[in-house]
Amino acid sequence: MLSIISKINSSNKLSEIVQHKLKETIKPLFRKGEYSTKEETNEVLETIKTRRSTRAFERKQIKKNEIEKILEVAKNTPSAMNKQPWKVYVVQKEELIRKIGGEISEVLTPQMTFLQRAKKQLQVPDPILYDAPTVLFITTKKERSMPLFIDIDVGIYLANLNLAAESLGINSVIVGLTKMHEEPVLKFLNIPDDETFKIALALGYRDSNRHPPEKKEIVTGNIKWID
Ligand SMILES: Cc1cc2nc3c(=O)[nH]c(=O)nc-3n(C[C@H](O)[C@H](O)[C@H](O)COP(=O)(O)O)c2cc1C
Repeated sequence: MLSIISKINSSNKLSEIVQHKLKETIKPLFRKGEYSTKEETNEVLETIKTRRSTRAFERKQIKKNEIEKILEVAKNTPSAMNKQPWKVYVVQKEELIRKIGGEISEVLTPQMTFLQRAKKQLQVPDPILYDAPTVLFITTKKERSMPLFIDIDVGIYLANLNLAAESLGINSVIVGLTKMHEEPVLKFLNIPDDETFKIALALGYRDSNRHPPEKKEIVTGNIKWID
């Protein structure tokens, strides 16, 4: 569209009135010469804005091809020197998820009062993996030439998985607590010695009766424009 306008501009063949009319008609599509960034017409912005962590899931399993779609699209995540340092273990076995979540919960819940509260409020046996039907466990190789950026790479990858899932109507929560007591993850998934377990993403369909989306406080004052 921009190139058409510049051609029109440069050809000088159309009258100023026609040019003005044309610009007025397509103006809503542009902001500072780019396509509209209005959230209601931009699905990426809308997904980023409306995504929320989900901590109570329906018993419905996510179809394998949906998980594959999410993993496929997340392969495009940028990474330092394109190392793509992540590896993903996909777990959909209810029994295995319960075992891992249960063992972590047994250790962490007595130490953390917010976990005891969550367990009661959400009516879940373990407030770690929240009985999610699917969990992705992310590891990286221990020996790498670019260790400086591994955590950033994994973070971006995780965010893309999270948002890709949300855009397909699949809810999730990032579970950093799995790293605070990682032994059950290493043991039950047989993670080899040359890999480091990083973090987990629990996925499923939100049970809004048990966990309606909460109002979120957004931190302000953390953006400084350098003029
Ligand atoms: C690195 C990281 C670790 C997190 N670990 C946990 C966790 O272990 N358990 C949990 O319930 N939520 C966890 N969360 C989710 C945050 O609590 C959540 O993103 C935050 O409260 C903002 O809420 P929202 O995701 O609904 O916007 C984690 C999020 C991130 C980014």
